[in-house]
Amino acid sequence: MSDMIKTSTEKFAKLIEKQLARVERMNAQKDFLDFSKLDTIVIGVCGGDGIGPAITSAAHSILEFLLADEVKAGKVQFKVIDGLTIENRVKANKAIPDDVLDELKACHVILKGPTTTPRAGDPWPNIESANVAMRKELDLFANVRPVKVPEQGIDWTFFRENTEGAYALGSEGFAVNDDIAFDFTVATTEGCERIARAAFDFAAKNGKTKVTAVTKANVVKTTDGKFLDICKKVAKDYPDIELDDWYIDIMTAKLVDEKRRTSFQVLVLPNLYGDILTDEAAEFQGGVGTAGSANLGKRYAMFEAIHGSAPRMVAEGRDKYADPCSIIRAAVMLLNHIGYGDKADKLERALDKCMYEEKKLVITGRDTGATGAEFAQYVMDTIQAL
Ligand code: IPM
Ligand code: MG
Repeated sequence: MSDMIKTSTEKFAKLIEKQLARVERMNAQKDFLDFSKLDTIVIGVCGGDGIGPAITSAAHSILEFLLADEVKAGKVQFKVIDGLTIENRVKANKAIPDDVLDELKACHVILKGPTTTPRAGDPWPNIESANVAMRKELDLFANVRPVKVPEQGIDWTFFRENTEGAYALGSEGFAVNDDIAFDFTVATTEGCERIARAAFDFAAKNGKTKVTAVTKANVVKTTDGKFLDICKKVAKDYPDIELDDWYIDIMTAKLVDEKRRTSFQVLVLPNLYGDILTDEAAEFQGGVGTAGSANLGKRYAMFEAIHGSAPRMVAEGRDKYADPCSIIRAAVMLLNHIGYGDKADKLERALDKCMYEEKKLVITGRDTGATGAEFAQYVMDTIQAL
């Protein structure tokens, strides 16, 4: 065997070992954390970088306002986590510096601002995305992204698998020589089963009648094939819910088909397809700036804006005018997740009113509009007037 093949085979063997260890960790974690049994729920507030700290503090002030009594009674505690900036990550040469990871792990749920993801050619070393690393480290396997446009009959909830697929080894592919490079995609039985079950459970609890699995199993036969087979297996436990099965290419087309798209309800899909399709879907609602995203695991959960860190806005001194609506939507999901559904509903109603009905303040991203802090105050005033 040539040295080249030997070195590559050894690299691949290491990847297999690491993935097998991950499967063991996954299999060991059976139950979801029960928030009703906690004396104190610890909410981490991690601003990230770029416009992150500005928009996150807007959402944080609303959460403090809504949970003031719980904080006083010691049932809820906030912890601000500052260190997840690109500068610190570069200094530690890690996607998430160890001290920040320890702080994150000391929380039950996390509200997270966007973080800068380096790419080749940037002034930063090409370290892994902090988002992707956090999803892996905290095993946040379900990325739940709702998209609603009531007047067009759109009400979709995406269950994007969040720890596997093309992302599992996204920073661990390798070039065999100058001519050939490999990346990998990974599907595990537990990984597919837990996301499929999460989607069906959500459908069952929310009166939905259909779950749509989106893959490319006709071409990516082994891993997408496994994902689809497991969705079919899990569907058998939910006889009242129909499973239908689409390929990602035609699904991206059908989302713009006004006649067909209203029939989709809950969609479950592997990581990369979920990444792409949820950006497309959010566009119908007003863009990625308007959508929130929940990253759920059995022990931890993290809630975030689905847009990026917009470093250009910071460079131009416009971060205080950045739109906090996406991360406020994420705060709605956080409240729901920790058992404060009534407060979540209030916040959602107030936000809809401010964004779509009254529009007394408008965010433009510059000094022609409101600041994020002013908008947060507007949302709080609206809650009080509900
Ligand atoms: C998202 C983002 C991330 C992803 C990036 C920032 C790594 O696009 O949350 O959808 O690809 O998952
Ligand atoms: Mg994305």
